[in-house]
Amino acid sequence: MGKLDNKVAFITGSGTGIGREAALLFAKEGAKIVVADFNKELGGETEGLVKEIGGQALFVETNVTDEDSVIAAVKASIECYGKIDLLYNCAGGSVPEDGLVTEIETWVVDHTLALDIKGTVFPSRYVIPEIIKAGGGAVVNMSSTAALRGNAMHVYSAAKGAIVALTQSMAASYTNDQVRVNAICPGIILTDRVKIRFGELPEEGKAAESLAARTAERYPFGVGHPIEIAQVALFLMSNESRMVNGTLVVADGGMAAF
Ligand SMILES: NC(=O)c1ccc[n+]([C@@H]2O[C@H](COP(=O)([O-])OP(=O)(O)OC[C@H]3O[C@@H](n4cnc5c(N)ncnc54)[C@H](O)[C@@H]3O)[C@@H](O)[C@H]2O)c1
Repeated sequence: MGKLDNKVAFITGSGTGIGREAALLFAKEGAKIVVADFNKELGGETEGLVKEIGGQALFVETNVTDEDSVIAAVKASIECYGKIDLLYNCAGGSVPEDGLVTEIETWVVDHTLALDIKGTVFPSRYVIPEIIKAGGGAVVNMSSTAALRGNAMHVYSAAKGAIVALTQSMAASYTNDQVRVNAICPGIILTDRVKIRFGELPEEGKAAESLAARTAERYPFGVGHPIEIAQVALFLMSNESRMVNGTLVVADGGMAAF
């Protein structure tokens, strides 16, 4: 028996990183997966990887910042599976050009707020009614420790702070419909994007280790790995977290405590 048997999970940004790990983990736990990503190659790869482990997956090319694209993706998911029970709003992120509010360019503001805020609002807007029709379920949003304390990427921290507020408001509003809504605040998670940001690709093995080592010097638990966030998301999606609603799970190895 899997923890997500008979559930359909719509996972944005599941072409790579944390979203891909979640797609694989949720599938192992019995869920049917919608891979909603705007990158055809990566999304197709995730669909293939889920099928390789014996799961069911549908890749739907989706731009979470584009309402029409989200509407079409939800329609395709319902046509394929007949329902959606779980929404993981994982697409999001920052750009290297983000920085101090006194220095950033306007496109950085527009891009980041669109990706992180519209990219959470639009899928929620169209998937939650389906979850309600299915009799209830769970939503997990992606915030960040950047929302909780000073961070050099001012727009990203603002966007992720908004996700915290949105999560609490969504939980308050949809609890009566049996929809739980929570957010995860990861610390540094070693995805390809993060490795590239730290100049750690293509010397992957060696360089990734150096980031891990540098971080571990300050924080004993060091960097996290995508699977470790997917495991938190699995908990929040499963019935094991039935009493967890409208809250944040900080998954940063204790960095926020230092
Ligand atoms: N990696 C970290 O250290 C870290 C830390 C805190 C929070 N987070 C958050 O976790 C989430 C996942 O992060 P990650 O590092 O795994 O990301 P990632 O960059 O590795 O992967 C992001 C995925 O989203 C897709 N995507 C990007 N824009 C999209 C769009 N407009 N529409 C649809 N798909 C789109 C990409 O194609 C990719 O598959 C993000 O919300 C990020 O802000 C990550």
